[in-house]
Amino acid sequence: MKENIIPHNYQVSKVDRQKMNKHKSLLLWFTGLSGSGKSTIANIVEQELYKLGVKTYTLDGDNIRSGINSDLTFTPEDRTENIRRIAEISNLILDAGLVVLAAFVSPYKKDRENIKDIVKDFNFIEIYINTSIEECERRDVKGLYKKARAGEIKNMTGVSATYEAPQNPNIEIKTEEKTVEQAVHDIMNYIKPKLNFKQ
Ligand code: ADX
Repeated sequence: MKENIIPHNYQVSKVDRQKMNKHKSLLLWFTGLSGSGKSTIANIVEQELYKLGVKTYTLDGDNIRSGINSDLTFTPEDRTENIRRIAEISNLILDAGLVVLAAFVSPYKKDRENIKDIVKDFNFIEIYINTSIEECERRDVKGLYKKARAGEIKNMTGVSATYEAPQNPNIEIKTEEKTVEQAVHDIMNYIKPKLNFKQ
């Protein structure tokens, strides 16, 4: 099949769109346990970017797993497919010239490596939201850890499924040692120069 797919050469390019937006495209990938604070932090980072006039879009477990990935479960194979599709979607949004904020548990190292292959290394910023399982379980915002301990949820990351922590993330936020404001400040400081933002 693939040999019969010939991409059309469109005249308005990613570079043109980035010029119009006055900033580069970037993928901010938030990884960490369920309840670690990925969505909370991503949400505030997006607001800060919005204030600067940066064009953004957020992808997270709820909007993706209830829509395009509603056919996927939490088995290792399905998680790999979940992350692959999200990386491909992110790649399209990067091509559209936006900053993508993606908040997914993404527990496997090889899946996160694959994102880099899909979107290219220089577009990808890995942000490890490092919150211990004990703290996530204490917060248990969605009540999922309780259910997992009761055996009602299988393959729960941190309980009955592994989380492979990033070894060399671009940014690591230890939420038990930092406020959300500090975390957002650190992330903004790191990404601002990479955006090449022109006012
Ligand atoms: S991933 O592992 O495939 O990256 P994803 O980020 O899309 O996971 O979805 C994780 C969200 O689904 C969690 O924040 C949690 O609310 C919910 N969830 C439901 N079951 C599980 C499970 N078995 N493991 C982890 N998260 C789960």
